[in-house]
Amino acid sequence: EGTVKHCKRLNTGTRLCLNPQNNYVVGVGSGSTIVYAVDRLAERVQQENLKIVCVPTSFQARQLILKHGLPLSDLDRHPELDVAIDGADEVDSSLTLIKGGGGCLTQEKIVADCARHFIVIADYRKDSKCLGQQWKKGIPVEVIPMAYVPIGRDITRRFGGEVVLRMGVSKAGPVVTDNSNFILDWKFEKVHNWKEVNMAIKMIPGVVETGLFIDMAERVYFGMQDGTV
Ligand code: A5P
Repeated sequence: EGTVKHCKRLNTGTRLCLNPQNNYVVGVGSGSTIVYAVDRLAERVQQENLKIVCVPTSFQARQLILKHGLPLSDLDRHPELDVAIDGADEVDSSLTLIKGGGGCLTQEKIVADCARHFIVIADYRKDSKCLGQQWKKGIPVEVIPMAYVPIGRDITRRFGGEVVLRMGVSKAGPVVTDNSNFILDWKFEKVHNWKEVNMAIKMIPGVVETGLFIDMAERVYFGMQDGTV
């Protein structure tokens, strides 16, 4: 429970109850941090006999939901979610996020946008004043494969920096997303007006989505080194 400090959807001071309730539709994010939240969610569902359904943001999230025996749904059946919970790669002081380190940014953004509350959980290393201070791998941009070269050139011509096609670790060739696209990582050189940059990049033909999440996160919980939150 708490009050809203910064959110485009809710007025400052609005009371929130983010405890899972009966019949909640929960968006499940991707990455390594969300695993802890789903462990706890599954525990609560069992202990309290809660009826919830979960909407995944990736193949990984889907597997996580199934592994915990939680009811799996999708946006066809549940286009409106009560809450979506996800990790982040970096969070600045206005709760703008970089996401997509795991390549799942597009579905993550769709699910977050369908949720009444979007809550982020991350460790203290993701907490930053300005984007780029902590996360050094750049802003992920999901693109249609045939357009990755012109899109990369366009981004660097307009905004500087460097664009790298994300390559597989144990796979030869580029990373292919859950939507069969490529990921470009844009290593920017300075702090930009992220809203403008995000809009401009999204308008380039062939761009599917960016890993900039602006005015979406309502609260961010950071796990500290000493175990406090
Ligand atoms: C997945 O594509 C990402 O957006 C993750 O949500 C983000 O990278 C956080 O991942 P970790 O919890 O593994 O740091």
